[in-house]
Parts: sequence; C-alpha cells; structure tokens
Amino acid sequence: MTVSVVILAAGQGSRMQSDLPKVLHPLGAVPLVVHALRVAREIDPVQTVVVVGHGGEAVAKVVRAEDEFATVVAQPEQLGTAHAVDQVRATLDGIDGDVIVLYGDTPFIRAETLAALRAARLWHDVVVLGFEAADPGRYGRLIAEDDRLERIVEFKDATEGERAITLCNSGVICADRAQLFDLIAQVGNDNAAGEFYLTDIVALARAQGLSAGVVRCDEAETLGINTRAELAQAEARFQTRKRAEALENGVTLCAPETVYFAQDTYLGRDTVVDQFVVFGPGVTVESEAHIRAFSHLEGCHVSRGAVVGPYARLRPGAELAEDVRVGNFVEIKNAQIDEGAKVNHLSYVGDASVGARANLGAGTVTCNYDGVFKHHTEIGEGAFIGSSTMLVAPVKVGAHALTGSGSVITQDVPDGALALGRGKQETKPGLGKRLMDRLRAAKAAKGKG
Ligand code: UD1
Ligand code: MG
Repeated sequence: MTVSVVILAAGQGSRMQSDLPKVLHPLGAVPLVVHALRVAREIDPVQTVVVVGHGGEAVAKVVRAEDEFATVVAQPEQLGTAHAVDQVRATLDGIDGDVIVLYGDTPFIRAETLAALRAARLWHDVVVLGFEAADPGRYGRLIAEDDRLERIVEFKDATEGERAITLCNSGVICADRAQLFDLIAQVGNDNAAGEFYLTDIVALARAQGLSAGVVRCDEAETLGINTRAELAQAEARFQTRKRAEALENGVTLCAPETVYFAQDTYLGRDTVVDQFVVFGPGVTVESEAHIRAFSHLEGCHVSRGAVVGPYARLRPGAELAEDVRVGNFVEIKNAQIDEGAKVNHLSYVGDASVGARANLGAGTVTCNYDGVFKHHTEIGEGAFIGSSTMLVAPVKVGAHALTGSGSVITQDVPDGALALGRGKQETKPGLGKRLMDRLRAAKAAKGKG
C-alpha cells in the first residue's frame, strides 16, 4: 500500500513572538519542518506535500532545499486543520493509497510510530495517533473504547466530563486518500472556534459506518512547539536523546551533558568526544576519531583515527582523511586534507587541498578571498609549510616542497623546491640596546619636567 504525507505548516505560531515562521525555528540545528520531512522520508512516501501560509515563501525555500521532490501548497487563509488538508486535494488527486497528516511543529514523531499507524489501517478506516497526557490542557480529547474511536472533541467545545478525559489527540492521522477527502468535504465550521476541524472526520466516518481507531504513543513523541520556552525544553530533550544514542552506539562522551548534537550528527564506534563540543548540521565522524574539547564542527567529514582540537573549527566542506591532525585554533573550510597531514596550530585552511603527510606550520593561512572571488590552494604530498606562511591563492605548492617561515607565497612552487618570499634580515650590532637606552632616558627626563 502506497502512502503520501501531508505536513501542516501554515499556522502563524504567534506565541513564538517571532518574525521567523514557527516551523523554521531550529531544533538540533535544523528547522522544525525538516524534522517532519525527514521522518516522512523514512516511510518512503510516493508524495510529500507541505501546506504553508504564514511566511510561506521562506518555508517553501527550506522545504525544497531539504527535499526536491516535496510539493509545497499554499493555504492563504488559515481556516482550520481540515481546510489546510483540503488545499492538497488537487495535488493528491489520482494518487491511490493512504495519506498521513503530520504537523510541522511536532518534531519527535518516530517512523516506527507512523508504521504502527499504517498497520492499524488493516482494522480501521481512519486511524488517529493518541497519547495519555499528564496534563491534557487544551488538546482535543479522544472519545474511545479500547482502540475504537467514536469521535474527537476539541477542548473549546468539550463538556466538563469530556475535559476530564486524558486520552488526547496528537493531530497525526492516517486514512485512505479518497475517503479522507470525501470526509473533509463534509466538515463544517459550526463550532467554538469557527474553524474547519480535521478532527471532525472521525464522527463523520462513524456516522457513515466506517470504523475509526486509535494508536497510542508516548506523550514525549507528540510534543508540539508553541513558545520559545517549549522550544528550549524540546532542545534539551532532543540533546538528551542524541547523547544516549551516541553512548549506546559505542561513542565515548567524557561529559555528555556538554556535547551538543545536530539532528543528523553521525559518530562512529569508538570515537571519543571530549568536553564542550558542538556538532552543527551535516557532520559525519568515522570510528576511532578523537574530537577534543571546545571544538565546533559543521558540514564536515572526519575519517577514522583523525584527531581534531582542542579548540578547532571545522566548517562546511572540511574533509579530513584518516589520521589527520587538526590542532588548536585551526579553522578548516571547504578543504580536503589527505591522510596523515598535520595542521596543528593557529591556521586557516580554506578552499584548499592538502596532500598526504604534508605539515602546515603554525600560523599558515590560505589567502583564498580577493574580496570578490574565492581561489584554490593546492599543497602537495609531504610538503612542509613554514610557520606563518601566507599562501596567496590561486597557488600551488608541489609535493615535498618547503616554504620558509613568514613567506608570502604568490607563485607556484615546484615539487621538491624551497620557496622564500620575505624581506631579507638586516642586523645592526649594538643598535637595539642604544635605542632602548635613549628611550628610557627620554622617559626619565619627562618625569622630572
Ligand atoms: C490540533 C487538534 C487537536 C490536537 C492538537 C495537537 C484540530 C481541530 N485540533 O489543535 O485535537 O489535540 O492539534 O497539537 O485539528 N494549521 C494549518 N492551517 C490551519 C490551521 C492549522 O496549517 O488553518 C497547522 C498549524 O500550523 C499546526 C497544525 O496545523 O502545525 C495544528 O494547528 P493548531 O492551530 O496548532 O491546532 P490545535 O488547536 O493545537
Ligand atoms: Mg497546536
């Protein structure tokens, strides 16, 4: 049975007090809506559609960057969750199979739960994901007996008795595409909010002899984000989960609570991560690497046995081969560092390729930017770059070549050559001391006067 996913993300999220649409606020370094897109992708849908409204263009841009096959549909006016899903009617026309509705602001739903929802479609025409709420607050209440669902009542419309129910609606539902849109067409807005409630499809389904069921999940999974405080709580929860996952997968975290992960951080077995390390999006660290304290990594790949930091910064496109060493106060961006090469101190390596076992001395800088264009630096295998060498790109230093400390290298250096690009030293015997004596005398005279 094929499945399509509809992600509702048109709401304003006014309680965030933000100019940024709610679903673009980051959790684990990626926007909330991307969490929904990624869990959707795990169930392999034939079609994913995101319904956007407030900040629609910005949301659409993020959606397309994450998933080029996802469709974005606008809901110009937010008239309720049923109205939101109805915007997708034409897009899904003719696509047979099930539809799962997710929210763009509910980032913890797991693929296993969506699979359970689909499995329950064997017994029910409409399946709703519910949870036992510790504090049911304003959630919609599920009127159910065992796994059979009668109807959903929104908090605003509920009686005192119904409000006492603790089984709540997560908002995630699954139904056959054609049936879902038939039911939605019958939804009205005669209720306390004057909205078209998607939740009404349950009672409508039951009234026409269809069956509805509930699949339960843990409350933590359905956590939605409405305020900055909830976003902060969700982030803490997310980090706790990622740390536990890393430890389970055989990663050593010396001080787990000081290591921060992105949604897609991958750390290989027997890698060691020291204190206070931040992983931004798109980081893969292979096994047996060592990420030392106070390092910041994003969009990079660290191979087996490499050592990074302390105090290193790996930016997007940093590609470290096996056994590379990147030391303190070193920044690497869009650069391939081949096996066993060393960049140990105070360096910037950007838009570059560094050959195997090359050694870049302290203070090496690739001068990659001329103010308009970026240029490439190539350093050959086994080259030795003297401390404080400025490599003015585009430039190439050959294999096993050397540059003298303090050189400004503007021309290519052939394999095996030594290049010196600096002023010649002049030494004046005795002048240093004479100069200092004169300055001290001048200071003493000034003090008296
Ligand atoms: C909804 C459910 C409620 C459930 C709760 C779970 C309905 C009527 N109620 O209530 O039973 O317990 O979620 O969190 O479905 N959206 C749109 N367009 C709209 C309206 C909403 O895209 O016109 C999106 C929102 O951006 C949000 C989601 O749908 O992502 C849910 O909308 P929201 O207004 O938060 O619904 P709740 O009142 O929380
Ligand atoms: Mg809500």
